[in-house]
Amino acid sequence: MAEKDNPEVTIVSKGITVSYGQIVALDNFSVDVPSGIVGLLGPNGAGKSTFIKAILGLLVPNRGVIRIAGHDPIAESVLVRDMIGYMPEHDCLIENFTAIDFVSYMGQISGMKKRDAMPRSHEMLDFVGIGEERYRLISSYSTGMKQRVKLAQAIVHDPKILFLDEPTNGMDPQGREDMLNLIKKISDSDKSILVSTHILDDIEKVSDHAMIISNGKLITQGNLDKLLAGKENLKYVQVRGNEPARLDFVKLLKDSYDVRSVTQESGQTRIVFINTGDGNSIFKLSQEANVQLRAYSPERATLEDVFIGALEENGGNSNGN
Ligand SMILES: Nc1ncnc2c1ncn2[C@@H]1O[C@H](COP(=O)(O)OP(=O)(O)OP(=O)(O)O)[C@@H](O)[C@H]1O
Ligand SMILES: [Mg+2]
Repeated sequence: MAEKDNPEVTIVSKGITVSYGQIVALDNFSVDVPSGIVGLLGPNGAGKSTFIKAILGLLVPNRGVIRIAGHDPIAESVLVRDMIGYMPEHDCLIENFTAIDFVSYMGQISGMKKRDAMPRSHEMLDFVGIGEERYRLISSYSTGMKQRVKLAQAIVHDPKILFLDEPTNGMDPQGREDMLNLIKKISDSDKSILVSTHILDDIEKVSDHAMIISNGKLITQGNLDKLLAGKENLKYVQVRGNEPARLDFVKLLKDSYDVRSVTQESGQTRIVFINTGDGNSIFKLSQEANVQLRAYSPERATLEDVFIGALEENGGNSNGN
């Protein structure tokens, strides 16, 4: 049953282009998605949901080839549907169903017999932490509970490959933590999971591999440790002071260093830049500009730094700096 087609690559996308009228949502998009948990990261409108829908065969690309575990999602749609689970970004719930009826109904749509779907749905609702509420109508649920039910319906038929489109959307910090832990547990049972999100923090918690997408194009991808390790000289400095002084500091820094991004946040400026030396010269520059040095981090980059750096390298700056 759990035959290994190709343990390295689950999804292949070659030259996929998807347009909605004039808007090109995916532009000649090529990527090999490895097995395991993979983060699909990108700002709003990057093309994440479009990519997932194209892989699922829910929309037909203008051009390009997609293979999922070696299969064509359109020509072999029935087989592919059995193999995959999908948690959509927006509501897919039937509000006037109870959770148990809904999950079991979705199991039957995915080809399960009713007598198998019912006990399995109870198990999945236990797993996602929906208790006696499962007998209540979904219309009475909180956003967090709805996200859990959406996850339960995605895994009810025990698919090999899961697509989770913004699974933590609308959840509070505890709910997000729970959702990420569930995703990790699911992946322990030998499943491949593609998680789309614009929350970098979420990916850092669950994933060993990330793909960064912006404006319908793949910006960079790789093993997270490698993506972060490759940026060892990337530092950030945070300064406080009046605006002219902070601008002055940015200018001084730009004169001597490769500045990757500048972010303004209530009276402070955060600058990401490359520095192979120590922090002394940065301290001197802060004195020269008359700003207060609040933070200087010589540690390895966060995914956010990689994201900002990658966007800028590709000329697709998301915040206009
Ligand atoms: N049905 C549609 N009709 C027209 N344009 C669309 C449609 N769906 C998406 N788009 C456009 O295609 C581009 C990619 O959208 P997509 O939903 O794939 O992005 P996303 O990365 O999932 O964004 P988000 O983080 O907001 O969910 C955007 O410019 C979006 O406005
Ligand atoms: Mg989306």
